[in-house]
Amino acid sequence: MTDMLMVTDLGRDGLGAVLESAAVVKADPSSAAGSRSGLAVGLFFEKPSTRTRVSTEVACADLGAHPVVLKQDEVGLGKREAVKDVARVLDRYLDVLAFRVFRHDDLIELAEYADAPVINLLSDRSHPCQALADLQTISEQRPLAGTTVTYVGDGNNVAHSLMLAGAMAGMHVRVASPPGYEPDADITNEASGIAAGAGGSITVGNDPEELVSGADVVYTDVWASMGQEEEAEGRKALFLPFQVNSELFAVAADDAIFMHCLPAHRGDEVTDAVMEHARSRVFDQAENRMHSFKALLLHLTPSGG
Ligand code: CP
Ligand code: NVA
Repeated sequence: MTDMLMVTDLGRDGLGAVLESAAVVKADPSSAAGSRSGLAVGLFFEKPSTRTRVSTEVACADLGAHPVVLKQDEVGLGKREAVKDVARVLDRYLDVLAFRVFRHDDLIELAEYADAPVINLLSDRSHPCQALADLQTISEQRPLAGTTVTYVGDGNNVAHSLMLAGAMAGMHVRVASPPGYEPDADITNEASGIAAGAGGSITVGNDPEELVSGADVVYTDVWASMGQEEEAEGRKALFLPFQVNSELFAVAADDAIFMHCLPAHRGDEVTDAVMEHARSRVFDQAENRMHSFKALLLHLTPSGG
């Protein structure tokens, strides 16, 4: 039993096993149906969510597990009650604690005080469950190793997890961000080290056209994440050259696919034309959140609950 606060917590073999299992449960949902009967899974949200909330709750139900959805306005994590107390209380009821939080440090504290596996459903640092669905989606198009994915935009939680997971899978991950909005240097260094050992590479720069050129996958996310709403207007002019529009998408490989974790802000980081492009895979990606979360639960918990 282990936690998944960062996608690297799975290890390369674990990541490969989860992706393989995700493909199996997608192809044959009955193969895992009911296999986690009796498992109680807490799904906590300190921020809004559509995909994560619904895909995880349905995944639990399909596996026979019992999802318990909790919201910050009722729990008051770190406000109504100390994080370490919430962790120890929920640990007495639940077999898995899955949390979406603002502060990654809160996840670390939860994991420290709870014996049950803690899963990161998005923090300010990373979004590992998203990366599982991202790699599942890419693997449906082409083998991961050697594939080039270019992430265009804010070097945020989604970018961090894509870099780390891509590195683990031997991909070439390029990131094009406005100056000052690159991914955290420690993540870039860690991902570069992992990529070097797996046959991939990490490239971070500020020129979207150069970095998208010839890429197999073009990926973007919002310019201002949840919790950064007050910065959104101020970022627009700086990020506009990083918009994934038809012109930028056209410099990628001829068969390149477009990806976005969603929700998308059409007209900002991506245009309608690219969202609706025949090679846009954004809704497959959203669907794969459910299959890959099932696979993650199967990986982290013993059969029978
Ligand atoms: N991609 C994603 O995590 O979406 P939600 O914020 O709607 O859960
Ligand atoms: N970077 C975005 C991802 C949303 C799924 C955010 O944190 O708001």
